[in-house]
Amino acid sequence: MTPQDIPVALGSDHAGIALKATLREMLEAAGHKTLDMGTNSPESVDYPDFANAVAAAVLEGRARFGVLVCGTGIGISIAANRHPGIRCALVHDTTGARLSREHNDANVMAVGARVTGPEVALDALRAFLATPFGGGRHERRVRKLTPDWSPRP
Ligand code: RB5
Repeated sequence: MTPQDIPVALGSDHAGIALKATLREMLEAAGHKTLDMGTNSPESVDYPDFANAVAAAVLEGRARFGVLVCGTGIGISIAANRHPGIRCALVHDTTGARLSREHNDANVMAVGARVTGPEVALDALRAFLATPFGGGRHERRVRKLTPDWSPRP
């Protein structure tokens, strides 16, 4: 079993369905397995429900990474980051996507369908998936983001 065998989980609210479908198609065409956790209809839904489903899939090892889409990416990234162990990066460009992996070991990428075009989002997701965590000095900082690290002595 290689990492590629573990799916990438996708979730969005109604504002993100078209971009989520575009991202899913690219992932599948590139040979990634996917786990689409909805929503898949234009009916109005609550973005935390889909952030929660994707976060659980990542934390339980059912997904290698998560991809979340809402209108701005803001609400759905806030919701994902409420889960200890999730490091969700709200991404607007390829550089941010790459550095969120290299420096922050992000395990979920969020994007806003109303603020980021599909080409930028596709490039950002390709960069996100292609970039390993850099380790080194970043290791200590990411450790301070883990659930068992306390900011208080
Ligand atoms: C839905 O209208 C919108 O509020 C949602 O997609 C997102 O942008 C919230 O952060």
